[in-house]
Amino acid sequence: MRKVTLEKLYKHPIVQKYVGRSGMAHAIAVAEHAFYIATKNGVNPDIATKAGLLHDIGHYKWYQDGKWDFELYRENDIHAIKGAARAHKLLVRSGEDMQIAKEIAVAILLHTDSYLPGGYLELSPLQQVVAEADEADEEPSGAHHYRTIEPTEALQRIIQLDIKIKRQLESNDLEQTS
Ligand SMILES: [Fe+2]
Ligand SMILES: [Fe+2]
Repeated sequence: MRKVTLEKLYKHPIVQKYVGRSGMAHAIAVAEHAFYIATKNGVNPDIATKAGLLHDIGHYKWYQDGKWDFELYRENDIHAIKGAARAHKLLVRSGEDMQIAKEIAVAILLHTDSYLPGGYLELSPLQQVVAEADEADEEPSGAHHYRTIEPTEALQRIIQLDIKIKRQLESNDLEQTS
């Protein structure tokens, strides 16, 4: 049983504020990609979609004279670190299982290596799903952060994803018991 749905997270004011800041359309598209990549790879779609929806919740506004300053962003950004902590607090307060909250937070922490000095990260299957889902929705010059979505369409797509996740988890349970 899922303790927290995507719909509950989506409607939370913290999600509306901070995920809205980096682009709700992008976040929902990444959650959808995460669902498909997760189910193809035997990764739990509930955890993957939550990490997908929340992966950019740590963004700060890097504005200079009313415009997004990419140089400032590149030099100072820690959105994955901030996002991991912010998502973890939100999930725990929303009643999420502590183990799941941790897995989501770590997947958010590792969805990009932009804040790390050059190196090699060995990602777990879940972490790989979230990073791939994010890449799948990326557009040149960060345009994916500016795509907009009507709130009614956003909520509808979130509810559809919740239905698909529930079905997928039920069919996984059936496979395990048969
Ligand atoms: Fe990101
Ligand atoms: Fe992203």
